[in-house]
Amino acid sequence: MSTAFEHPTYNYKVVRQFAIMTVVWGIVGMSLGVILAAQLVWPQLNLGLPWTSFGRLRPLHTNAVIFAFGGSALMATSYYVVQRTCQTRLFSDKLAAFTFWGWQAVIVSAVITLPLGLTTSKEYAELEWPINILIAVVWISYAIVFLGTIKKRKTPHIYVANWFYAAFILTVAVLHVVNNLAIPVGAFNSYSIYAGAIDAMVQWWWGHNAVGFFLTAGFLGMMYYFVPKQAERPVYSYRLSIVHFWALITIYMWAGAHHLHYTALPDWAQSVGMVMSIILLAPSWGGMINGMMTLSGAWHKLRTDPTLRFLVVALSFYGMSTFEGPMMAVKTVNALSHYTDWTIGHVHSGALGWVAMITIGSMYHLIPRLFGGTEMYSVKLIAVHFWLSTIGTVLYIAAMWVNGILQGLMWRAVNPDGTLMYTFIESVEASGPGYIVRWVGGLFWVVGMLIMAYNVYMTVKRSEAERSAIPQAA
Ligand code: HEM
Ligand code: HEM
Repeated sequence: MSTAFEHPTYNYKVVRQFAIMTVVWGIVGMSLGVILAAQLVWPQLNLGLPWTSFGRLRPLHTNAVIFAFGGSALMATSYYVVQRTCQTRLFSDKLAAFTFWGWQAVIVSAVITLPLGLTTSKEYAELEWPINILIAVVWISYAIVFLGTIKKRKTPHIYVANWFYAAFILTVAVLHVVNNLAIPVGAFNSYSIYAGAIDAMVQWWWGHNAVGFFLTAGFLGMMYYFVPKQAERPVYSYRLSIVHFWALITIYMWAGAHHLHYTALPDWAQSVGMVMSIILLAPSWGGMINGMMTLSGAWHKLRTDPTLRFLVVALSFYGMSTFEGPMMAVKTVNALSHYTDWTIGHVHSGALGWVAMITIGSMYHLIPRLFGGTEMYSVKLIAVHFWLSTIGTVLYIAAMWVNGILQGLMWRAVNPDGTLMYTFIESVEASGPGYIVRWVGGLFWVVGMLIMAYNVYMTVKRSEAERSAIPQAA
């Protein structure tokens, strides 16, 4: 983080800070995932303590991977991309520094409060009201820094990656505030202002748009900058990217009800959610194809460039999970998949295959450049990391598909007299082998992330050594 790496025009300090924390939180969040996966195989690992029980560590995992790992990656790359494509320094260095320290404070608060059991119980919005206020303040500051930089740009147009980042920042601000409106009844307790089915609908309007804007739009911004850069080719179709943008943000908003099929939500609202989810396949695949086709004429680079492999495989998983999602939104399919491990497999084909892989590919492009170089310390280690992540993801999602369909079929199997063929615990027992395979897949991921941390450390050390050698040579 030393000032030796200061760029004459751009603020790279805050980008470096967020980039390093991306790797750190990636290791923490994924290790928590491995612990959870192990707890589902060996329940003794709950240790009989409330703080280390599955129920408390699970939201810690989701908050750590989505908001700490994903959030740091989005902030690092958005601050980098907006400066490079607008050819101007960030709007305010001080406010940018506040977003870094503020965001880390939010994460540390989550690390303390979630194991203590302090939670709103709303999924992906578990944090209590004082932390929510801090999130709102940090997020608005982030919006001011990002949009302020676009305002003072030196380029005539706004590159498409910035459109995606801007949509992600603005939408998450609105979703966060609306979903968390609550009446406090103590320092760490509050009640949502919504009740019953309305509370559920608002929660999943947030929940699905957190997927659509936090886990998708922001990472598409990353894709639109780093895929062309790493492939050294212009984006395949700029026109398609604009259609992709408007179609995606328009349709995502209406799909949240697919999380509430067969609930107290009015039937027509469930059907709107289902239909909009199916339509969502089109813009999702438009974006995926635009990213893939950017490699036209550069496919041979995949043979030697593992960073590009991360980016391309991420796009394949994006295509796969956005095909699977619309299928799962069909009510008859959801009747089988809901509550089973199929959902967990879908989540992680998006989360590991798409979100984590596009992040890691982008970080391998970004990190050496932030420290004055162009290449990571070891390209071979990137290749090892690539295979560990790819195999880890496949093990994870294949195990969850098998488990999910097995569970769904066992739960609905009936004897000729109408009684259930299997008890619930029999389906848990049958899921055991799949849970072990998922745990192994998770271990592959964590080992890969540790290799990345070593590679990043050596890259920074090498750059520092090169910097200190320059004055001696002169
Ligand atoms: C080493 C890698 C990972 C492992 C082993 C892992 C493991 C797990 C486990 C065991 C669960 C609980 C499943 C259940 O309740 O049955 C879970 C939930 C979840 N994980 Fe991960 N995870 C990993 C990485 C990630 C990443 C990188 C993300 C996001 C970027 C993520 C997002 C989630 C989400 C959103 C859930 C909740 C799913 C739901 O409620 O349907 N995970 N993970
Ligand atoms: C066209 C795109 C997509 C559609 C239509 C879609 C649809 C769905 C459906 C129907 C469910 C199951 C709801 C249930 O039965 O409870 C689901 C769950 C989920 N999906 Fe997707 N999905 C899409 C893409 C993605 C992507 C790319 C990601 C991750 C990056 C993702 C993350 C999740 C998560 C985290 C859940 C679990 C929510 C929970 O219950 O906690 N989805 N999705």
